[in-house]
Amino acid sequence: MASNQNLHNIIFLLIFSCLLTFFAEARDTLKAGDSLNSSSYLVSSKGAFTLGFFHPCINTNNSYLGIWFTNDQKKRVWVGNRNASVVNTAVLTLETTGSLKIMAQGVDAVTLSPAQVTNYNSTNTISATLLDSGNFVLQELNSNGTLIRVLWQSFDKPTDSLLPEMKLGINHKNRSAWSLTSWLNDLIPAPGPFSLEWDPKGHQMIIRRHGVEFWTSGVLKGDTFEFISDKSKGMYNFSVVSNEDEEYLSYTNMKQGGQSAWFLSFGGKLLSFDGSYVAETENCNGYNTDGGCKRWLPSCRHHDDMFDKRSGYFIHGQDHTYSDTNTSHTLNDCKVACWNQCDCDAYTSLYDNQTGCKFWINKGEFFHDLSGAIPPIYVLIPKPSQFGGQSAWFLSFGGKLLSFDGSYVAETENCNGYNTDGGCKRWLPSCRRHDDMFDKRSGYFIHGPDHTSLDTNTSHTLNDCKVACWNQCGCDAYTSLYDNQTGCKFWINKGEFFHDLSGAIPPIYVLIPKPSQFALNS
Ligand SMILES: *[C@@H]1O[C@H](CO)[C@@H](O)[C@H](O)[C@H]1NC(C)=O
Ligand SMILES: *[C@@H]1O[C@H](CO)[C@@H](O)[C@H](O)[C@H]1NC(C)=O
Ligand SMILES: *[C@@H]1O[C@H](CO)[C@@H](O)[C@H](O)[C@H]1NC(C)=O
Ligand SMILES: *[C@@H]1O[C@H](CO)[C@@H](O)[C@H](O)[C@H]1NC(C)=O
Ligand SMILES: *[C@@H]1O[C@H](CO)[C@@H](O)[C@H](O)[C@H]1NC(C)=O
Ligand SMILES: *[C@@H]1O[C@H](CO)[C@@H](O)[C@H](O)[C@H]1NC(C)=O
Ligand SMILES: *[C@@H]1O[C@H](CO)[C@@H](O)[C@H](O)[C@H]1NC(C)=O
Ligand SMILES: *[C@@H]1O[C@H](CO)[C@@H](O)[C@H](O)[C@H]1NC(C)=O
Ligand SMILES: *[C@@H]1O[C@H](CO)[C@@H](O)[C@H](O)[C@H]1NC(C)=O
Ligand SMILES: *[C@@H]1O[C@H](CO)[C@@H](O)[C@H](O)[C@H]1NC(C)=O
Ligand SMILES: *[C@@H]1O[C@H](CO)[C@@H](O)[C@H](O)[C@H]1NC(C)=O
Repeated sequence: MASNQNLHNIIFLLIFSCLLTFFAEARDTLKAGDSLNSSSYLVSSKGAFTLGFFHPCINTNNSYLGIWFTNDQKKRVWVGNRNASVVNTAVLTLETTGSLKIMAQGVDAVTLSPAQVTNYNSTNTISATLLDSGNFVLQELNSNGTLIRVLWQSFDKPTDSLLPEMKLGINHKNRSAWSLTSWLNDLIPAPGPFSLEWDPKGHQMIIRRHGVEFWTSGVLKGDTFEFISDKSKGMYNFSVVSNEDEEYLSYTNMKQGGQSAWFLSFGGKLLSFDGSYVAETENCNGYNTDGGCKRWLPSCRHHDDMFDKRSGYFIHGQDHTYSDTNTSHTLNDCKVACWNQCDCDAYTSLYDNQTGCKFWINKGEFFHDLSGAIPPIYVLIPKPSQFGGQSAWFLSFGGKLLSFDGSYVAETENCNGYNTDGGCKRWLPSCRRHDDMFDKRSGYFIHGPDHTSLDTNTSHTLNDCKVACWNQCGCDAYTSLYDNQTGCKFWINKGEFFHDLSGAIPPIYVLIPKPSQFALNS
């Protein structure tokens, strides 16, 4: 106990003396000609925020310029060079021209603000100050210290965090947007799949995944949004500004004041730094529409549908086919086009060299001929069990024309299989249930050797792996492929998973189906 106490004292003294030296050196302003190296910092005048270089993970030399809450370096609210990490030796420099740059050996300088001031000899001064709001502002001042103009500010270049006084919206003067983009994952600040923006016409916040609507807040009514978390309702004072120069949303936290911050996680959740949700999007699986979730799966397909290569023919009526003669299109393009076109039942390549596409439209039942005499095509196989028997084959309702103009667009797609208005029928089942979920578990699949597939695309994050696994009915588990949490590894058609609690096996994300579904199937 005594030695424990001593240890605590020593640790406390160490931290305290670190803080002392830290604040002793701290300044809040860079003047023209100054630079900030990797071991020096700016601290805002009341100490709320710190600006400096940081490493997102310990075992790399990659370093980024960032702003964080002084009391917690993990609460990073801004990254200056998210697309371009630099090595340890980087410096931030401010020149008399107003040029603000991150310079490092061996790589191109990252320009935050270009040179804008030409009258170098004037008595005006250039300085960059970290404010207690968290804004880093580059300004030109008169000799008496009054502001002439703001040359650049970090609040105009948001990354994944929104602080009080920051704007979310559109600047009409230079047609730029104030929006958030998530990190790629928690180690890589590069732009990730999710973005948060303000929709001034709809008076709502929108989270997009790869540009596609993923969640909306609902309209701002009174002082809150319908779909933000209950805890967030009543916590924030939102204000909307709309004039010919700019349209934006901003907020203040009525309880925490300036210590508040929102950030958009790489998994698409909007969180407050106090750990609470602003938008809990965990349930947005592209299929459900409650709680502000948006549908982003192809509207007429469900998770269980898949294409299978089969020989045979469609039983009813003559072939109604459509050809795409674009020889830039490959078999995969045909698949995507057929998947996105609600009436499409099958596809194959048009030409012998496997370019172009041929589609079968609105065909219904397919006779699977095993004679081997008919060349195979790729036929959509919906999940039969949900309908019981043959009716499962009749996928399409209402005759629509296929329109093809480089991309496939369903011309009059109102019956999406989920809505029931205007005579539409609800007909889409799913191989994934609302209650299915992935759980992070250590262990292994019991049956047979690993059948895994790899996705080596380093733009893909854990969230992309999750979505891909979710959309592929045979997929039982996923995890990242590389140490930096990019790429994907999938376990396919594996069945039972043995949950090993020894701690010896690195965990992966395993699909845990809703128990009743299991019971039904077995
Ligand atoms: C960084 O700058 C500080 C003061 O500005 C200086 O004391 C320190 O030696 C510099 N460190 C390096 C590695 O250059
Ligand atoms: C970081 O830099 C040091 C010194 O240059 C080098 O020895 C080390 O291997 C580097 N680490 C990584 C992960 O690149
Ligand atoms: C980062 O790169 C992406 C695409 O690679 C680009 O759209 C974005 O504007 C870049 N962001 C910055 C801050 O340079
Ligand atoms: C100072 O700048 C002005 C332009 O702003 C220029 O006309 C003048 O010649 C400059 N004076 C000197 C001494 O460089
Ligand atoms: C500061 O200087 C500018 C230009 O020199 C002048 O217009 C302004 O009135 C001064 N402000 C104060 C508070 O002295
Ligand atoms: C747009 O203009 C505002 C001031 O009107 C400025 O602060 C901002 O940096 C500009 N944004 C871009 C992308 O140029
Ligand atoms: C909300 O903000 C507005 C303007 O920023 C202010 O007038 C109002 O008093 C604030 N309301 C609360 C409850 O703090
Ligand atoms: C063929 O497809 C490619 C890729 O989708 C597209 O860029 C091109 O414009 C198309 N050509 C014609 C003639 O439609
Ligand atoms: C594939 O075949 C089509 C039709 O015969 C032809 O127009 C096209 O140039 C061929 N493409 C390639 C890459 O050979
Ligand atoms: C990697 O994934 C991104 C995002 O899904 C995609 O835009 C890109 O084309 C992919 N790259 C390759 C080589 O497939
Ligand atoms: C992540 O790791 C992979 C494989 O090591 C590498 O190819 C990729 O460039 C890395 N991505 C980033 C952003 O560091």
